[in-house]
Amino acid sequence: MSDVFTPELDREVDELLSAHASSGTRLQRICNLLADRVPHYDWFGFYITVPGRRELALGPFSGEPTEHVRIPFGRGICGQAAEREETFVVQDVGAADNYLSCSIHVKSEIVVPVFGKGTVIGEIDIDSHVKEPFTEADTLFLESLAERVSPLVSDIMPPEEE
Ligand code: SME
Repeated sequence: MSDVFTPELDREVDELLSAHASSGTRLQRICNLLADRVPHYDWFGFYITVPGRRELALGPFSGEPTEHVRIPFGRGICGQAAEREETFVVQDVGAADNYLSCSIHVKSEIVVPVFGKGTVIGEIDIDSHVKEPFTEADTLFLESLAERVSPLVSDIMPPEEE
């Protein structure tokens, strides 16, 4: 499946990232593009760290609505990736014990932290409807994307809560 991550796709991502639109709009367009163009990306979204709290809030996404709009660090695949500050690849969610289900169709998931000033300021989260779809090509593409979206994620962070 690595043949989807072409230089052409990279160029399209760069164009969207540098477009004259708000940071939220640009992130939403990234979600739409990648959910559309990568066959095994059935749900593509961003979670944003709530400043001052060890909690993630749902940000822009493309796919079915999810009930998981707030996720504490440590809970589910998203929360574990935030706590450990590393990419989490789950090739079969049926075999994962700390997992928050969004839909019965989801079979696998990859979560990549977005860093800003050395801390996790958000995450890229992808659900797939097939088992074992992710390769090293996904990790490389998404970790590079995480670096490139970091200023936009930082921009849409909500104000610190009491
Ligand atoms: N499955 C995630 C929850 C978020 S949804 O995939 C959109 C998890 O276990 O953290």
